[in-house]
Amino acid sequence: MVDAATGVELTHLASLYHDDVMDEATLRRGVASANAVYDNSTAILVGDLLFGRASEIIAGLGAEAVRIQAQTFVRLCAGQIQDDRQAPGDTEPMAYYLQVLADKTGVLIATAARYGAMFSGCTDEQVETLREYGELIGIVFQLSDDILDVTSEADDSGKTPGTDLREGVATLPVLYARADDSPANARLRELLAEPLTDDTLHAEALELLRAHPAIEQARAHTLRLADQAADLARRLPAGDARDALEALPLSVAQRSA
Ligand code: IPE
Ligand code: MG
Ligand code: MG
Ligand code: MG
Repeated sequence: MVDAATGVELTHLASLYHDDVMDEATLRRGVASANAVYDNSTAILVGDLLFGRASEIIAGLGAEAVRIQAQTFVRLCAGQIQDDRQAPGDTEPMAYYLQVLADKTGVLIATAARYGAMFSGCTDEQVETLREYGELIGIVFQLSDDILDVTSEADDSGKTPGTDLREGVATLPVLYARADDSPANARLRELLAEPLTDDTLHAEALELLRAHPAIEQARAHTLRLADQAADLARRLPAGDARDALEALPLSVAQRSA
């Protein structure tokens, strides 16, 4: 169990080293990011090194565990590639965005939950329930994070607020704000049409978005998915573990409340 958890956490950490390079982020967990302290090449190589260590540890858990980690890594990278690019013209933006979140983050938490169930002797059905549960937790976490990117000060999140806006990532609050075609929203819609690299425009967009109902709509959407995860937890045998799993989705969703 500890090896499985270590393997997932090192995979997670490696993906963050690479993510901060992609996102040109300067702050992670309240301290300067590796790419900012050293440089991109070092951050990428240390990320690779961590992936290697994760794979080595998971190899001790057998072929099935290695296959799952490999598939997780492939999906995570596919999600990160999509996150970094504009949605194809023929896709519905909200559905596309939620799929990207499932891929770039849901799959990792799904694997954490799945390994936990597998290596503690759960039935196949319980393993599948927990995999689905983990995927939803990952999506809820990321949705909360996207809301925090708009609403928080750096001190709360340990990251620089507004990074997604600067990079032009169309997160849930942005998608809801873009969908508001009222005349009062014309200025925000115009600002959100492109990455906001200019500091003055970025600050203006952040202020307008913080005051827009899109934030509440995004929170409501996040809570609905958290409820789905809690419903899945209720399929598990009664006990302390189930109580904790049932309570977790709401607390993850409320990080951004
Ligand atoms: C990162 O997504 C997902 C992975 C590392 C796979 P984000 O770019 O949204 O994460 P933060 O906001 O930098 O933590
Ligand atoms: Mg990032
Ligand atoms: Mg990113
Ligand atoms: Mg984020």
